[in-house]
Amino acid sequence: MHRGVDPTAIRAPRASARSAEGQRRIPLSAPWVDERDEELVLDVLRSGRLSLGPAGPRFEELLAQAVGASHCAAVSSGTAGLHLCMRLAGIGPGDEVITSPYSFVASANCAIYEGATPVFADIDPRTLNLDPEAVEAAVTERTKAVVAVDIFGYPCELDELRAICDRHGLALVEDACEALGARYKGRPLGSHGHPAVFAFYPNKQITTGEGGAVTTASAEEHELLVSLRNQGRLETSSWLQHGRLGYNYRLDDVSAALGIAQLEKLDRILAGRSQVAARYAELLAGLDLELPLPDDADHERSWFVYVVKLPRGIDRDGAIRRLGEDGIACAPYLPSIHLQSYMRDRFGFAEGLCPVSEDASARTMAIPFHARLAREDQERVAEALRSALQ
Ligand SMILES: Cc1ncc(COP(=O)(O)O)c(C=O)c1O
Repeated sequence: MHRGVDPTAIRAPRASARSAEGQRRIPLSAPWVDERDEELVLDVLRSGRLSLGPAGPRFEELLAQAVGASHCAAVSSGTAGLHLCMRLAGIGPGDEVITSPYSFVASANCAIYEGATPVFADIDPRTLNLDPEAVEAAVTERTKAVVAVDIFGYPCELDELRAICDRHGLALVEDACEALGARYKGRPLGSHGHPAVFAFYPNKQITTGEGGAVTTASAEEHELLVSLRNQGRLETSSWLQHGRLGYNYRLDDVSAALGIAQLEKLDRILAGRSQVAARYAELLAGLDLELPLPDDADHERSWFVYVVKLPRGIDRDGAIRRLGEDGIACAPYLPSIHLQSYMRDRFGFAEGLCPVSEDASARTMAIPFHARLAREDQERVAEALRSALQ
């Protein structure tokens, strides 16, 4: 296996996949793909319209409906969507973009793509999302935008962050890549006006293989997104006329067809994931672990991964290794972005910059989680965790 391969071993459970002890492997994640997905993908393959056909707009329409957004632009990945949002915000060299250190690297990389400097504000230890006070303290005259992340599907403090952005004239971009189906103050993420980015890698709530989407309430932003993802073509221009510097960030029709089938069962997927999470909460209740924060009146999580926090003094990486030997895939979710080697080299970031994030990074781990995880597999995970903690 290439060293760069995703260690999270995302794949559908197969009876033949067994650990050294002969136990069936439990993957960290698995997409829900069934006959309907196959049918819609085959329809596109047989139609011959593999890109720029009708599946793309249909997927966008259904996704916009699902999250209550007025506009939706499908793109080739969540990362592409975040990058385009940096272009929407006019981010450029010398600018600073405030974001969370406790996230997937793409939420910070998008600023670097445009020559800006990512500025990491620390997180709230309860929600693991940006702490608005830390964001306020990080604003300088060079700050241009805030990329707020809904980590693990838990909505960030949108109202407070928007107030900070309004006060300082900053763009707000929401990285909702892990949070399709979540709600903040009763309204779905993606419907709050500012650009919100979703992602559909196979470990996400829905998958298009690779893919993403950006929702916004602004018709102008949407028009710009549609042009930028399509090599800078204008609505009026022909195939080889380009009005601006753009990218090929289009989502192809095969992927969009898969997305349509996935959206058709979105409610079942989300309900299944909630059920699995509730079962974990029961099974792990007696263990010396911090479980994911429950919902409250303002925050309704969409379950993405199930991440537990181990007590200080427990060897988290050793626990992950031991569970791995038992055929249970776990992962150290999430390393703090500012301590990634390329970030240290380029910006001189070091330990101590964001202590809350660093503490979480040292102690959190993701355990197997997907919509159709069997009860007996969850029991096996709980039992293995119990013995790893002893
Ligand atoms: C928080 C967050 N942001 C951005 C991304 C990037 O999405 P993609 O892998 O589709 O580029 C991901 C995906 O893992 C993510 O979890």
